Amino acid sequence: MKAIEIRNKYLNFFKNHGHAVIPSAPLIPENDPSVLFTTAGMQPLVPYLLGEKHPAGNRLTDYQKCVRTNDIEEVGDNRHLTYFEMLGNWSLGDYFKEESIQMSYDFLTQELQIPAEKISVTCFAGDEDCPKDEVTAKCWEKVGIPKERIYYFGKDDNWWIAGEEGPCGPDTEMFYDTGKPKCSPECNPSCGCGKYVEIWNNVFMEYFKSKDGKYTKLSQHNVDTGLGLERMTMLLQGKETPFETELFAPIMDKLEELQKVDNIASRRIVAEHLRSSMMIICDGGRPSNIDRGYILRRLIRRMIRHMNKLQISLDELSTLIDINVGNLKEMYPALEENKETIKNVILEEKNKFVKTLEKGEKEFSKEIENVKKQGKTIIDGKMVFRLYDTYGFPPEVTEELASENGMKIDKEEFKKLFKEHQEKSRAGAEQKFKGGLAGAGEMETKYHTATHLLNAALKQVLGAHVHQRGSNITAERMRFDFSHPAKMTDEEKQKTEELVNKWISEAVPVEHFEMKKEEAIRQGAEAMFIEKYGDIVSVYKIGDISIELCGGPHVQNTSELGHFKIKKEEASSSGVRRIKAILE
Ligand code: SER
Repeated sequence: MKAIEIRNKYLNFFKNHGHAVIPSAPLIPENDPSVLFTTAGMQPLVPYLLGEKHPAGNRLTDYQKCVRTNDIEEVGDNRHLTYFEMLGNWSLGDYFKEESIQMSYDFLTQELQIPAEKISVTCFAGDEDCPKDEVTAKCWEKVGIPKERIYYFGKDDNWWIAGEEGPCGPDTEMFYDTGKPKCSPECNPSCGCGKYVEIWNNVFMEYFKSKDGKYTKLSQHNVDTGLGLERMTMLLQGKETPFETELFAPIMDKLEELQKVDNIASRRIVAEHLRSSMMIICDGGRPSNIDRGYILRRLIRRMIRHMNKLQISLDELSTLIDINVGNLKEMYPALEENKETIKNVILEEKNKFVKTLEKGEKEFSKEIENVKKQGKTIIDGKMVFRLYDTYGFPPEVTEELASENGMKIDKEEFKKLFKEHQEKSRAGAEQKFKGGLAGAGEMETKYHTATHLLNAALKQVLGAHVHQRGSNITAERMRFDFSHPAKMTDEEKQKTEELVNKWISEAVPVEHFEMKKEEAIRQGAEAMFIEKYGDIVSVYKIGDISIELCGGPHVQNTSELGHFKIKKEEASSSGVRRIKAILE
């Protein structure tokens, strides 16, 4: 079944069940400065979930265009997308759990013909804020899901809220069993091994969470559901990734035909970012240096860098846009109407970026001669910053060029200068999206060292399969993503915490070395992207506990860190868990 057929079946089904079909809201929210893009179907409906009357009635359905960019660096794997379509249906103070579940079950088993035995569901396990959702479980049993395929989980898995504040409630999630073997006897839908894939989320929005963390009952009970179209399409077609479905296949094939260097991750990045950029531009987005304009700029520039990697001429961009418009116009007729604008915006941004790269490369070559003459192997942060600030030359490109010349860049100094610059500039919003680059103050430095300890502790507690998959640090907390197929038990979390705190109390010195990459690998150094580094690498060693390739900055001694505490452990993506932790 093609994506558009699934979408049509969905809207028709809910129309036949008394829902008004409402149009997708634009990707760029009209009255909501708190978010950059529409990230879920419920987002434009918040006032109505809070009690305002919707002009189309109290049963609604739509397909909603969504952009989520928190995981932009993950695109290129087999599942992450920045743009996706969410099918949704809503009850605004109308039906509740029983009817919602009956409709979802009927849609899945009758309209999409998914065999009932492939469906498992999860319900909220209950806590001090809200009781165990046995009503939902009973509803599932009533429609025919046997008890052994009904699971209960806590807030991490079965509670939905957009952000920190707003309407929220327990949810029930439906999972599709891919038929892959269980990864362990305990394997269940909350495990990220890939056997179970989440297909639909029904949120029973009865609560409002305020900024101070208090929950109050809403004036009405709502249902908010979301079904990811790309994922459903992939599953129904028996494909392993959305890139193999008709949504991406024409562009992926063309890229394969044009490429001179084979790289599947780069093809996915180009295909995904092109579609995402086209959809954003179509809804009025334009590249700039702040906020959503900056995200769009990043998407386009990242796409271009990966076209360069594939050695595809940038002149082909126009053809690629034509292919995408041709392929997607049935789903999004506005793409055809705005085709010329989309082309102009992307090509103009491409020209800017090409000039940036040219100027920057020239400047880089001049400077590098000086550096070489002085017999140095590190390009100072001032120059990296000047290239960035004056020529818009991305530091990751400078780093790449430096490593081609057998050199490194002084990232610490760059980060420092970047931070100063950032504090001066008015753009607070930009900071949110700079991730790792933003800030290297005292607290950030401590958290940075704590990630190395946490990485090492997780390996001891969970096993050698644990590897860092990402991290994000602010002055208030750290977030650490790592590969692990299952939810951590309370005991595992406690052991991990204890180990990190033990190492802190042992006051272990943190040492910095520069060495050949081979030597670092020989010593067993951990690295997230080993291929990203040049021949000479910067290595941080914490006693016998940890050795990692890393640009720093770090504290001198683990005793500086204070007390380490895990606040949350949750799924991040398939096979990847996320820990949020603080130092107190
Ligand atoms: N708001 C929920 C989600 O985004 C259900 O639509 O998953």
